[in-house]
Amino acid sequence: MLDKVKELIGDVSAFNATTKDEIEAFRIKFLSKKGILNDLFAEFKNVAPAERKEFGQVLNTLKNAAQDKVNQLKDALENASEQKGIYGDLTRPEEPIELGSRHPISIVRNKIIDVFSRIGFTVSEGPEIEDDWHNFTALNLPEYHPARDMQDTFFIETNPDILLRTHTSSVQVRYMENHKPPIRTISPGRVFRNEDISARAHCIFHQVEGLYIDTDVSFADLKQTLLYFTKEMFGKSKIRLRPSYFPFTEPSAEVDIYWGLETETDYKITKGTGWLEIMGCGMVDPNVLKNANIDPEIYSGYAFGMGIERIAMLLYQIPDIRMFYENDVRFLEQFKSVI
Ligand code: DAH
Repeated sequence: MLDKVKELIGDVSAFNATTKDEIEAFRIKFLSKKGILNDLFAEFKNVAPAERKEFGQVLNTLKNAAQDKVNQLKDALENASEQKGIYGDLTRPEEPIELGSRHPISIVRNKIIDVFSRIGFTVSEGPEIEDDWHNFTALNLPEYHPARDMQDTFFIETNPDILLRTHTSSVQVRYMENHKPPIRTISPGRVFRNEDISARAHCIFHQVEGLYIDTDVSFADLKQTLLYFTKEMFGKSKIRLRPSYFPFTEPSAEVDIYWGLETETDYKITKGTGWLEIMGCGMVDPNVLKNANIDPEIYSGYAFGMGIERIAMLLYQIPDIRMFYENDVRFLEQFKSVI
């Protein structure tokens, strides 16, 4: 009997529990009315008188050990739940919030806006779903004009008058219809063309259109503005204007900047010439002014248009235009430090 009680003392001291239920089961087993201890105390009368003293002492030891064990386990459980709890440790510093990064298209667009807003240009926007008038006709591209073919257009099937704008030049027309000169505005936005997707071309891309209308605006003003822009945007101050054709400007030009031939990439992107085309521009055609109810006898102006993807590809050496639209975080995270 004595040995049995001593064994139980060993069991009690070795016992461990991590849940309330386990502790309660232990308490019931040893300390409840029908528990082991009460049973043992009931045995008292059957113990030989000479052994009763020792038996009593050992029983008391078992009882105290069981009681201590229950208290100790309950305390431990309470401490643990205070620390972890459902809220965790409220005194600990917060997990750092993962900061996202701006998309390279947004970074470049913001930079362009910043450069032009410093010389008084406002930002204007127009709809992506456009009508024929604003995208083509008012821009001196009447129906059947061959230049319409240059811009593979997505039309709305049920209404050939409605289309996805092929360029942000449509915003020029809308802006002139609603504002009186002097006008200085740039219009960034998304444009759509029915083109095969490749490393160089996509059916959705972004442009920034610029428009300046006032009295006595000359080609020299245009050239000076372009020079300022390329200096601020790329840190390069050598440009050249190549005669070109756009229906909405006369004369028209394409703008090249001298990128240089310092690295192998420079050779590659400039095809060994050092020169790189970055935008189209020209003096607003008098017909376009007329179409927007601005008198070409009083006012003149210049316009320009550039592709944002192309500039971002240049600035960040991005080899494939499709990377802009894949939303691969390994690509996007690389722009974290750029703002
Ligand atoms: N709209 C032309 C395009 O999408 C770009 C452009 C060229 C805009 C010359 C202009 C301009 O305003 O003057 O290719």
